[in-house]
Amino acid sequence: MGNNGQKTVRIAALADLHCTVDHKNQLGPLFTQIAEAADIMVLCGDLTDYGLPEEAHVLAHELSSASTIPTVAVLGNHDFESGKQQDVRHILADAGIHMLDGEACQIHDVGFAGAKGFCGGFGRATLSAWGEGAIKDFVQEALDESMKLEAALQRLRTPHRIAVLHYSPIRATVVGEPEEIFAFLGCSRLEDPLNRHQVTAVVHGHAHRGAAEGKTTAGVPVYNVGIPVLRAAHPDRPPFRLIELSPQGNESGTRRDSVVV
Ligand SMILES: [Fe+2]
Ligand SMILES: [Fe+2]
Repeated sequence: MGNNGQKTVRIAALADLHCTVDHKNQLGPLFTQIAEAADIMVLCGDLTDYGLPEEAHVLAHELSSASTIPTVAVLGNHDFESGKQQDVRHILADAGIHMLDGEACQIHDVGFAGAKGFCGGFGRATLSAWGEGAIKDFVQEALDESMKLEAALQRLRTPHRIAVLHYSPIRATVVGEPEEIFAFLGCSRLEDPLNRHQVTAVVHGHAHRGAAEGKTTAGVPVYNVGIPVLRAAHPDRPPFRLIELSPQGNESGTRRDSVVV
């Protein structure tokens, strides 16, 4: 229990499950552990391996082990591979998962804004919309995802706001991957809404060999919660990051969130 009798909210975040039909009865124990350790679970994309409805059905079944806590999720690029991303989304939504694609939801007074995001690179090396139509379309996709994130954040009035992405909004959490592919792992265009809306924390996946932690230019903590990243950082622990959010300290908006894992 925190200040004023309000409870601390524990969020378990992870990404890149890459669930296949072979994962049947394999993921349940992890989800049981999460339901015991946290109040809310967040899944940051690449929920399935090939974006197949049968993979989504297996995941939905496995997630029933965590049905005692609410789960929020965004899709990842793998969930688009078979062109059946809408089926994947619906199967998981029917299983009670809050699927976010430019939408927001509020659970236990914590706001979640989610979008898949897209790639395009970071900082001065961010790809700009110039030249061929294909390049302009590519850049537009990143802009559209950034606007989705912003629209979702705009709706939240909660003291704590968590942004849920698949792609990284900053360079720091993709470091560890080959530098040649940084531009395909995320995009700085996702960072601006996070800074302007002063989110409490950002969670993402996708960069399997990236770094676990970073910060936006405004100091917002960014966590790469890809399962391979978490396993590499803490081989002895189950692969999820626990984020503890204390009740808001005072009306001036001081946040006293502590990250435990
Ligand atoms: Fe992945
Ligand atoms: Fe991915």
